[in-house]
Formats: sequence, C-alpha cells, structure tokens
Amino acid sequence: MKTRVFHPENGEDEIKEAARILRRGGLLGIPTETVYGLGANALDEEAVGHIFEAKGRPQDNPLILHVPDAGWLERYCREVPEVAYLLAEKFWPGPLTMILPGKDIVPGRTTGGLSTVGVRCPDHAVTRAIIREAGVPVAAPSGNTSGRPSPTSASDMLEDMDGKIDGIVDGGACRVGVESTIIDLTVSPPQLLRPGGLPLEELRQVLGEVTVDKAVTQQVAEGLRPRAPGMKYRHYAPHAPVTVVTGAPHRSAAYIQAVLQEGEGVICFEEFRERFAGRVRQCLGSAWDTAQQAHRVFDALRRFDSTEATHIYAQCPDDSGLGLAVGNRLKKAAGFHIVDADRLPGITIGITGGTGSGKTSALRALCALGGRIIDCDAVYHRELAANARLRQDITRAFGDVFDGEKLNRQKLGGIVFSDPEALHRLNGIVNIHLLPVIRREAEGHLIVGLDAINLLQSGLAALCRETVAVLAPTEQRVRRIMERDGISEDYARLRIGAQQPEEYYRQHCSRILENRADGPEAFEEQARNFFRELIREVFDHE
Ligand code: TXA
Ligand code: MG
Repeated sequence: MKTRVFHPENGEDEIKEAARILRRGGLLGIPTETVYGLGANALDEEAVGHIFEAKGRPQDNPLILHVPDAGWLERYCREVPEVAYLLAEKFWPGPLTMILPGKDIVPGRTTGGLSTVGVRCPDHAVTRAIIREAGVPVAAPSGNTSGRPSPTSASDMLEDMDGKIDGIVDGGACRVGVESTIIDLTVSPPQLLRPGGLPLEELRQVLGEVTVDKAVTQQVAEGLRPRAPGMKYRHYAPHAPVTVVTGAPHRSAAYIQAVLQEGEGVICFEEFRERFAGRVRQCLGSAWDTAQQAHRVFDALRRFDSTEATHIYAQCPDDSGLGLAVGNRLKKAAGFHIVDADRLPGITIGITGGTGSGKTSALRALCALGGRIIDCDAVYHRELAANARLRQDITRAFGDVFDGEKLNRQKLGGIVFSDPEALHRLNGIVNIHLLPVIRREAEGHLIVGLDAINLLQSGLAALCRETVAVLAPTEQRVRRIMERDGISEDYARLRIGAQQPEEYYRQHCSRILENRADGPEAFEEQARNFFRELIREVFDHE
C-alpha cells in the first residue's frame, strides 16, 4: 500500500480527501497536540481491526474515541455526569481523555470488550476539521508500532507506518509531546489511569480528590489487568535496555557519570550535557522545564535506535506537573528498572600509596568519574593557618614548634618521626580537628575521593567506605620519581625506603590498585575502570 501524505496548508481539499479515507474504512495518521494517532472510524469494526494489525497491538487494549467537541459525548456515552462537561469546558480541546460508561453503538473491537469508552477532543484544528468532515468518531491509538516510543512528528510516524496505512496528515510537530491524561469518571473518587499532557494538579483543582492507579507508578504484576489495559505492556522502549535514575538532578547526574561504561548512552538534562560530552547522548531539556521534557522524551528514546548504545541511563524529573507523565514514560521504557540517587549513600574512597606509584593518576581517574577530590594535606595546612585551637593543642603536646603562626615542620618532624608514641599523639590531635572539616567538604557529594598519604596512620580511614592503596613495582617507582623530581637514583631509593612497605598497605587497605601499566595515561584508564567497578559494586549492594 502506498501511504499518501496530506498537507493541510494546501487547502480544504486535503482535509476532504483525508476524511474520505476515514469514511470508507481506511487508516489515517492524524496529528494531535499530544502525539500522532493512527485513526480509523471507531464505529466500523473492520476498520478498527486494521488498526490492531498495523500496530501489532494486543486485542484487549481499548482505543480512545476522538471527537470534535463535547456535544458528541451524548452520542457514545451513557449517564454523562455534570463534571464531564465541566472538565470539557475547562480542558477541551486538550490533552484529557475521560472514561465514561459507553453506549452499545461503540463496537467491542473499539472498547476492548469493556462497558466504558475513553473520549477526547484533540487540540489540533486540522484533525477536528477532518473528524467533523468525516462525521464519525475516530478511534486513534498512538501511531507507533506497539511497544515503540510514540511518534511526535509525521516523519516519526512514517518510520513505523509507511506502507501500512492509507494516508497521514502532516500537521507539524506535536506541541505537548506526551499522550493525553486519562481520568476514569466511572468511579468515585475519580481515578487517574495514565498521567499525560494535563497535570494531575490541574485535575485536582476541579475534581478535588483524585486517586492514582497503581499501574502509573509501578510495574503491573504478571497476570493482573490494570484499569487502563494498555498500562500493563512494556512501552515506549528503545532496543537497548534503559535504567531510570531519579533524585535531585545533580545526584542522578553524578550517579550516571560514575557508572557509565564505554558504549553506554545517556538521556540527560540540559544542565549536565557537558559532563557527557563524547557519549551517545540525548538531551531532555532543562531540569526545571517539564514542558520541554515532555516535548523531547519520545524523540530522545527513539533516537537511540539508530545508535549502537548497549544500555541507556536516563535522568528523570520528579512527579510534579508534567514530570509525572515524563517520568512515567521513562519508567515504562525501562520496565520500571529505577535507581533512586537520593537514597544512595555517598561513597567516600580513601586513596593512598607510596610516592611514585601513581596515586595522582588514580585521583584524576576518580575525578573524571565525577568524584569530588579532597586533598587532605591541603586541608591540614589550611587548618594550621586558620585554626588557633589546632595550633594550641599542638603546642601543648610538643612545645613551641611554631614560628609565629607558621609551623616549623622540621622542628615538629624531629620530635614525632623518632618517637612512634609522639607521632600517634600528633595524628590524634590533627584527626580531631580535621575530621569535621573534611566531613563538611564531602557532604552532599555522591562520590568523594580523599587524597591522603597518611590515610591509614591519620585515622582518616574512618571516614571511608573503601580504602584503596595504589601500588607499583619498586623499580618503576624509582624511575618515575627520578624523572618527575629530577633526583638521583640513590636519593630516589632512599625516599622510597623510608616509606611503608607494600605489605603494610596490603594488610590495611580494603582494595589494592596495582599499577602495572606502561605510562600514566594507560594507568589512568585502568584506574577509571577499577573505580567504576568498585562504585557499581557498592551501589548494587545498597
Ligand atoms: O494523547 C492520546 O491519548 C493519543 C492521541 C493519539 O490522542 N492516543 C493514545 O492512545 O495514547 P493509545 O491507544 O496509545 O493509548 C490509550 C490508552 C491505553 O492505555 C488504553 O488501555 C486506555 O487508553 N483506554 C482506552 N479506553 C479505555 C477504557 N474504556 N477504559 C480504560 N482505559 C482505556
Ligand atoms: Mg500508545
């Protein structure tokens, strides 16, 4: 079948021709403000049957009747309550579908055998004109192949339906971008069956109490039939599996950045796009603009099918306003595979190791995964300058080791490095003053790396979920610090000899990162993979 494309801007005849397709039982793609619909005469069982065939849609999934105005309600619905007219007056034409008791004139094929019908009046003048011209209500599911993201432009719909339908009316891009909100008025209080282009808050302003069907927020259990039968199917799904990440935007971004592997893709908020530069990436719009997100969500999902992405991580808005609909579509695309970044505990990773082993590259790797790096030595020196109590405590323990406010490192070193007891005491004092400062700096960050040579001796390890020692073969370390610091081989060996032996780290750290790479870049990549694995493991555990 050749699919004809109608251009309504070319005049009345296009509308007449399109309406003729409906009247004679054909299939017509129609633009609406929400998504493109796959329309047929709702009263013609055979025509409706073709909709199910073209979409590959399960037969038990009822279709929405599209009407040009509220005056048509009486034709297809029984016992229309006053509130239905009130809603129509306020929100029609617009993205609201009402479920009402149906009349027998609507065939079982259309209603999926239910005694109710869903009715809506789309906010697209061309489509209303076509329905009026055809003189029949139009049954129209979204114009995608069953299971795929809904189409929000004529070209998206043709991607799925070219050759399977008689015609499509190109009415431009859909203004809203997610399907209509479905409200069931046959129960009391009314129930939201599907969040959509009309926010729940606005419905509640008119209706008062509105309950929310479970199928909106969670996977429908095997064998159960939700009130909107369509809510039980995996929907909107790109080929690659999807994980939805909820929570404060900076936290969801941090989580994704930390766990994202080579070849995996991201749907992110505009504000975080730079973080995912070089990745297969789709932007959902600003984190604070749910209308823009609704507009983009299906397109973003659809675009992944022309990429090689093996998995997709999606940032997700909270449930207010259109966020409820956007989040619902993303979660359905993910089969409700959801990570709540707000509920993940922050992970603090202490990183230590002798000079020349590659600690700096390891820190850079963690930073590239979005980790907040805290240089504990720098904090110590800042505190020494700023914190009179710290200076006082040191003076009380070791005598006057300050020149004015400046620590005389040689003097203090002379005392503590020859006397383990004294070193222990110094560590204790510093610890008391540093822990709260570092804790404060780490607060609110999902992933923190503590850069601390004395991680184990200083007691800072107490702040860490994991302690990582970066180790490298001695010969490699000697060469590296000779080059880096321009020192002789003898001096390099002396310095390394004065530090803790490998065994010490192996005994006291929870993880070992062995630097056997040739060159810092190769090691940085090794370290990135190491930390990503570690972070995934810890989060999976939570
Ligand atoms: O925005 C929209 O509503 C779009 C455009 C084309 O108008 N249409 C749309 O249709 O999204 P569809 O078929 O993709 O989704 C209709 C949803 C399904 O989940 C279906 O189960 C539910 O509406 N539905 C239809 N009639 C119903 C009824 N009588 N009772 C409960 N749920 C119903
Ligand atoms: Mg659909």
